[in-house]
Amino acid sequence: MDTPRRVEHQQTDRGYVPVYATGTVEQPWESYSKTDHEVWDTLYKRQRELLPAYACQEFLDGVERFGLGDGGIPRFSELNKVLGDATGWEVVAVEGLLPDEVFFDHLANRRFPVSWWIRKPDQLDYLSEPDLFHDLFGHVPLLLNPVFADYMQAYGKGGMKAHAIGPEALMNLTRLYWYTVEFGLIRTDKGLRIYGAGIVSSKGESIYSIDSPAPNRIGFDLERVMNTRYRIDTFQQTYFVIDDFAQLFDATRPDFTPIYGTLADSSAVAAGEVLPGDHVFHRGTREGFASGADN
Ligand code: PHE
Ligand code: FE
Repeated sequence: MDTPRRVEHQQTDRGYVPVYATGTVEQPWESYSKTDHEVWDTLYKRQRELLPAYACQEFLDGVERFGLGDGGIPRFSELNKVLGDATGWEVVAVEGLLPDEVFFDHLANRRFPVSWWIRKPDQLDYLSEPDLFHDLFGHVPLLLNPVFADYMQAYGKGGMKAHAIGPEALMNLTRLYWYTVEFGLIRTDKGLRIYGAGIVSSKGESIYSIDSPAPNRIGFDLERVMNTRYRIDTFQQTYFVIDDFAQLFDATRPDFTPIYGTLADSSAVAAGEVLPGDHVFHRGTREGFASGADN
């Protein structure tokens, strides 16, 4: 973790950030308003009450261990003491989405970029770009889990490689992130549970992903996932289910280079499609699916 760090204010228009200049800022904790802290508390309380019946135990354990509900927006410096001791990860503050290579470089070095700013009170249910609540509450608790922590780092390294191979490889890898890190479900002895950050940070999708008859829930298969389009404007039409984090880590261990080659020759699967070879936990009714294009 000795990559040179620039600590300065990055422009907010997501402009060009050179690789290795990590583009991080100091979390401006003193600048949060009373309203900002209240937004955190409101969202935290809502999800904390809901999630015991929806999220996996590893996630819930992480939330407790960090003390994310101690009142107000957490200080990254405090979280990093816990995180560093547990898995050697570190949370770094950023202005917003980063260029792919910069993001991958952070992950490959066990740094997780978190947007320092939080949504406004009229945006509790929907936001088009990731804010502090999504990034921190959604992603960081699982970084305390050793297997998941290693998966995220491996993903960062894989990202660098995919980026060098080309845009199609990168698209395949991005789908893997989408359907695991952001929207993944996991089997438990209490039934299907959520581990994806995009779900646990959304009240509506937490309920929908587990309880709704509309979406498909299909067993995780690496190539299937990497070949499946996704929706960015609605709840997902398909969720992929892992048995445990070890399965995810093991399945993604092989070199993806030949897989990118194979996938380049096959056409992508639509977000809501079910294929003959799928291990179907639940075939979605498609009820309420919006028409419109997949990403
Ligand atoms: N094994 C992958 C590769 O060779 C890297 C990777 C690991 C990607 C874990 C995603 C998740 O590219
Ligand atoms: Fe995210």
